[in-house]
Amino acid sequence: MAVFVIEGGRPLRGVVRVSGRKNAAVAVLPAALLAEGPSTIENIPDIGDVATALDLLRAQGASVEVPAPGTVRIDPTGLRDREPPAELAGQMRASYYLLGVLLARFRRAVVPLPGGCDIGRRPIDQHLKGLAALGARLEIADGRVRAEARRLQGASIYLDVVSVGATINLMLAAATAEGTTVIENAAKEPHIVDVANFLNAMGAHVSGAGTDVIKVRGVKRLHGAEHAIIPDEIEAATYMFAAAGTLGDVLVENVIPRHLEPISAKLREAGVEVVENGEWVRVVATERPRAVRIKTLPYPGFPTDAQQPATALWSIGRGTTLVTESIWEDRFRHVPELLRMGARIEVRDRTLVVEGVPRLRGVPVTATDLRSGAALVIAGLLAEGVTTVSRVELVDRGYEAMEAKLAALGAVIRRQPSA
Ligand code: EPZ
Repeated sequence: MAVFVIEGGRPLRGVVRVSGRKNAAVAVLPAALLAEGPSTIENIPDIGDVATALDLLRAQGASVEVPAPGTVRIDPTGLRDREPPAELAGQMRASYYLLGVLLARFRRAVVPLPGGCDIGRRPIDQHLKGLAALGARLEIADGRVRAEARRLQGASIYLDVVSVGATINLMLAAATAEGTTVIENAAKEPHIVDVANFLNAMGAHVSGAGTDVIKVRGVKRLHGAEHAIIPDEIEAATYMFAAAGTLGDVLVENVIPRHLEPISAKLREAGVEVVENGEWVRVVATERPRAVRIKTLPYPGFPTDAQQPATALWSIGRGTTLVTESIWEDRFRHVPELLRMGARIEVRDRTLVVEGVPRLRGVPVTATDLRSGAALVIAGLLAEGVTTVSRVELVDRGYEAMEAKLAALGAVIRRQPSA
C-alpha cells in the first residue's frame, strides 16, 4: 500500500506524454484470443488493469511476451476451454470480455461475475441479452455466468441502454458467428472504433463502428494482426485539468484532439486557453476557471470518467458549477474528501452543486476508486500545503507513472509506503 505526498500550489509547466487508452487496451487484449495466430499490440499502457488483463490471458493458456516496453505479443495457440480464476476476474470490470471471446472460441464459457470500480450498480443484462440473441443459453449462479451455444448465429440486437461493454462484447462474439449481426443503439466511443479496427485487421468484417448502428458480418476464422492502441483521453483530460487548476502551461502530447473535444470545449467555456495542433493540445490558464455546467453523457458527450477530476478543478472555480452524473448512480465518493480540503459541494440527487472557493487546503485524503484518486491528486496539486492521498494503487490501475509525469511538469509529488 502506498500514498502520494503532494506539496501543492506549483504551476505545472512543460510537456507530458499520454499513454495508450486503458479502456481500449483491456478490450483489444482479450480480442487477440479470437485469432488463430499471434498478434502484436503497441502503445499498451503500463497500468494495473493491463497487468490484470495479461494475467487473465495467461491463465487461459495464451502466451504473452513483451518484446519492448509498451508492446505485447499474444499467442493464443495454447488457449484452453477453462474458467478464468475468480480472484483475477474479480479485480476488473473488463473480465466480462472473456464471456464473448470464450463463447466464440469454444461455444461455452463459465466466467466469474466481473469486479471493477465501486461506482454503484453495474449490471450486465445488455451483454446477456445480446449473447442470448446470438444463440447462447445463459445462467447466472454462484457468482458466475455460464454460457453455452450449439452455434452462434448473427442477429439484430437493440441495446436498451448505450453500453460500451455490451457493444464491444457483442462485436467480439459476433465476429466469427454465422451470418450478420446488427447492433443498434450501440456506444460510439473511440475505443469501440479501436476494437473494430483491430478485429478488421484480424480479418473480421465490422462496419459502422463510431455510429449507433454496427454491422458485423461473421467470418469463419480470424488471423493474428498488428495494432496500436489509441491514446487515453481521460489521462489527457486529467493533466489538462491539473494544468488549468494550477494556472500552468502544459502541452499534452500523443493525443487525438478530436477525442478531447468535450473536455477542451468545457475548458474554453471556463476561460482557459486550449490550443490544439495535430497530435497535441496545449492548456494555458491565467485565472481560476469560470463556473460551467457539466452533464456526463455517452460519447461525444462529456465523459463520466472525467467527472470526478472535473469536480476537483471546478471546486476552485469562480461561481457555482453544476455537475450532473447521468451514467453511474454512485460516482460521488470523492466529494466527502474534497469537502475535507475546504471545497463547498452539495450533493443534490445526481447533481453536484459546486460553489467555487479561492483555494483548497492540503489534508490527508483517501481514494475510493480510480477516478476519485485522480480527482484527489488534482485537488492536492491545487491546494495550499501538503495533501496525502492514500490507496494510490487504485490510481495505478489506470494511470501510467502518474507521479513521474507530474514531477516532470514541476509538481512536488512523491510516492511513499503508507504508514
Ligand atoms: C466502461 O464501463 C468503462 N470501463 C468505464 O470506465 C466507463 O465509465 C463506462 O464504460 C462508460 O463510459 C471499461 O471500459 C472497462 P457501460 P462499462 O456498459 O462498459 C448501464 C473508468 O474509470 N448498463 O457503458 O461497464 C450501466 O449501469 C471506468 O475507466 C446496463 O444497464 O459501462 C451504466 O449506467 C469506470 N446494463 C451505463 O449502462 C448493461 O448490461 C453505461 O455502462 C450494461 C450497462
